[in-house]
Amino acid sequence: MKLKDKRIREKISADITIHLYDDIDSTNNEAKRHAEADRGYHLYATTHQTAGRGRRGHDFYSPKDTGLYMTLSLPLSGHIESVQKITCLAAVAVCEAVEALSGRQPKIKWVNDIFLDSRKAAGILTELVTDSDNRPIAVIVGIGMNLRTEDFPEEFAAQAGNLGDIEINALCGTVTDNLIKLYENLSDNSVLEKYKALNLCIGRTVRFTKDGTEHTAEAIDIDRDGGLIVEENGDTLTLNSGEISVKL
Ligand code: BTN
Repeated sequence: MKLKDKRIREKISADITIHLYDDIDSTNNEAKRHAEADRGYHLYATTHQTAGRGRRGHDFYSPKDTGLYMTLSLPLSGHIESVQKITCLAAVAVCEAVEALSGRQPKIKWVNDIFLDSRKAAGILTELVTDSDNRPIAVIVGIGMNLRTEDFPEEFAAQAGNLGDIEINALCGTVTDNLIKLYENLSDNSVLEKYKALNLCIGRTVRFTKDGTEHTAEAIDIDRDGGLIVEENGDTLTLNSGEISVKL
């Protein structure tokens, strides 16, 4: 698996700067280091991260040459209402790219996990980058996709899986192109209908902890910021962060 600028670029219609690495600590870290100087779209991609990061301080297992680890840095045009919504865009971008290139349809577990055959095969980490005066300068979307990864460390083994042997350059370019197109139409909320249709939580019982209390509720909808609307004993509640568990 070798990333090649020309092969990735063939799939992308926008003007973009592409940075490829044999090894890097984390493409999100690299995008952050460059964010102040970068203008426009930048893609950072590798097949090996030595310090891949997931949400909520978790590691993201990123072994050499079995997966694609990429970060797209998106320029901010005005106020970003919801970073969570950008994660939803990225989830749709990944699912549609995988379906187009492999014929297989992954599903989304709210908010940032991509599942195939009931196993987590990809994850998304969206971060807002601010300058020294705390002004937002870019939003970076990190996407880790297991392609051929099979041997996972014990802490991930029960849940983790892969997307299969999809051609890495086509996948990298198609995910990037899909995400840029969705980002350029950020106010078009029809993407949230797609996100909902691909979501395996909707209509299922989910469990979560809020303010130290355990809840069991039914997931019923996605709101316009990508929040998960759940119903518990006739009351509705919107979740905007945190982990949920769902029986698949
Ligand atoms: C998660 O599952 O919690 C999110 C995982 C996000 C992993 C990707 S891999 C590319 C980018 N660089 C990182 O360090 N993290 C993201």
